[in-house]
Amino acid sequence: MQIRKITQCYFSPRGTTKKVVTAIARQFSGPSVSFDLMEQPLTKQEQLSSDTLLIIGMPVYAGRIPKMCAEMLKNLKGSNTPAIAAVVYGNREYDDALIELRDLLKENGFSLISAGTFIARHSIFQDVAPNRPDTKDRRILKEFSEKSSLILDKFNENTATDLEVKGNSPYCQPGNVPLKPSGDKKCTACGLCVKVCPTHSIDIANPKKTKKDTCISCGACIQICPKNSRGYHGPLYKIAAKKFRKKCAEYKRPELFYLT
Ligand SMILES: Cc1cc2nc3c(=O)[nH]c(=O)nc-3n(C[C@H](O)[C@H](O)[C@H](O)COP(=O)(O)O)c2cc1C
Ligand code: SF4
Ligand code: SF4
Repeated sequence: MQIRKITQCYFSPRGTTKKVVTAIARQFSGPSVSFDLMEQPLTKQEQLSSDTLLIIGMPVYAGRIPKMCAEMLKNLKGSNTPAIAAVVYGNREYDDALIELRDLLKENGFSLISAGTFIARHSIFQDVAPNRPDTKDRRILKEFSEKSSLILDKFNENTATDLEVKGNSPYCQPGNVPLKPSGDKKCTACGLCVKVCPTHSIDIANPKKTKKDTCISCGACIQICPKNSRGYHGPLYKIAAKKFRKKCAEYKRPELFYLT
């Protein structure tokens, strides 16, 4: 199939999901646009034509795709538009995130030709999978992109079937993550975290504080803070971090799914 445009779409508060999507996109040529859902929350409908390839990446939050992204993605529409999907998780499990993304894309008029699950450093517990993606991951990502490109060449929107992926439906209930970051005395009130927060949970009047009821623990504020002021503090975090380090010690490998 002849593709004329590439659309990349991702939500990536800590940057790994974006890296995965851009690595896949490198395999394909043609004019490319990006929807970075941190900056552009898709408040109005975007229609992608059938000669566009969508490359979409979502981080896994509590076994699902982030709730605010699932809402935003309702505005991304295709018309038998081919798509490649990636979910990126922190070496615990991806549970039902991939099947949820597949179903959402199908409902919105996309035909998934391939999908993959990839591993990143855990954005809350940074001691979990600290070096992922590693060299092996990058090689697998390249192979995945190459094979996806071959499948796209043969893709026929009229005969395409549904891509089989791993996961359960009904999906697992996303658990609440009680850990929320805050700033410490190193804060200089520069306001960068206020600007980057996708849920407006930090007030410039006191950027050390976090609105706990709206914060989704995404870590964008920690990532951007030039003073290393924002982070997770307190005994509850220390206990959870120790537990997670142990629970997620096994090296997980990417899993790849292709349309046959
Ligand atoms: C609120 C929250 C929930 C998470 N839940 C999971 C999970 O269920 N399984 C897992 O392996 N990793 C989980 N993670 C880790 C992220 O999936 C992982 O770090 C992700 O790749 C971050 O993407 P980013 O670097 O693009 O922000 C969670 C992270 C956050 C912030
Ligand atoms: S980015 Fe860091 S230094 Fe700047 S306001 Fe936020 S916490 Fe303070
Ligand atoms: S305050 Fe919460 S939602 Fe906002 S950037 Fe920080 S972790 Fe993300």
